[in-house]
Amino acid sequence: MKRGDLLSLDDLTPEQLSQILDRARELKARRLAREFLAGQSLALLFDKPSLRTRASFDVAMYELGGHVVYLGPDEVGLGRREAIADVARVLSQYVHAIAARIGSHQTLEELARAASVPVINALSDRSHPCQGLADLLTLREHFGRLAGIRLGYIGDGNNIAHTLLSAAGKVGLHLTLASPPGYECDAAAVERARREAEMHGGSITLTNDPAEAARDADALYTDVWTSMGQEDQAAVRRQIFARYRVDRELLRFARPGALVMHDLPAHRGEEITDEVIDGPQSVVFEQAANRLHVQKAVLLWLMVRVDGYVV
Ligand code: CP
Ligand code: NVA
Repeated sequence: MKRGDLLSLDDLTPEQLSQILDRARELKARRLAREFLAGQSLALLFDKPSLRTRASFDVAMYELGGHVVYLGPDEVGLGRREAIADVARVLSQYVHAIAARIGSHQTLEELARAASVPVINALSDRSHPCQGLADLLTLREHFGRLAGIRLGYIGDGNNIAHTLLSAAGKVGLHLTLASPPGYECDAAAVERARREAEMHGGSITLTNDPAEAARDADALYTDVWTSMGQEDQAAVRRQIFARYRVDRELLRFARPGALVMHDLPAHRGEEITDEVIDGPQSVVFEQAANRLHVQKAVLLWLMVRVDGYVV
């Protein structure tokens, strides 16, 4: 029986989330720990392009002593050349875990149900839990805590926004999301996050006003206006989101020295200006760096068959 999957941060209790962040910090201090996953393999099943996720999982497995099998968009033909469930059953006999980047979250869930090994969401249309963990680690490194931090998200109510919603509820962030009308997060996900946030001292606010999300924020976060697979909407979105750019003027609403965050890749000049992403408040490359460490912690959590591994 597999230990579990990580399809969304909703799969983690606040305690498990905090344990993963603690482990990531330890693994960051000691990069090479090849005894942990010696003899274990991870399949990277990717239906979309990637830099950070692919490279960091590959290096994570190397540094933990394991092996990676990369299967790109042209190789497997998920659901086209072969049924999702069949792919899952076959791969489960070769590898000890699967990290999958599949557009549709529903398809990802189907893969996870059919797989007998843990499945990690490497980005779906609904969620990007590995990115969310890296973002939380980055915030914690800067503020020494997560509870009570004011995070303003400006942009599309997309996979990244939903990930921040799940995270905020669990760790007690005060999250304000500013999206254009019609591009807000899913109402049910907002309600769920609000209920969780109430238990942990956080809050979730939705607005259409970017300045409201930026006001007094400890950190500002943005993501692309056009996600992978939405390229045919790019021109329309450029017009609709024009007011939702993180630039120097918007940053003035935030607290002095507020962090600037982006999961990358960035569409420079659209959702964020060069001077802000390259400026002294930007932590975007720290977020990218932390992907490696949190993913190692996730791999150990799902693949090492003991509770509470110790480095
Ligand atoms: N942030 C992120 O997941 O980047 P990639 O799409 O390059 O993996
Ligand atoms: N929202 C972006 C995130 C990329 C990591 C996308 O889905 O393309």
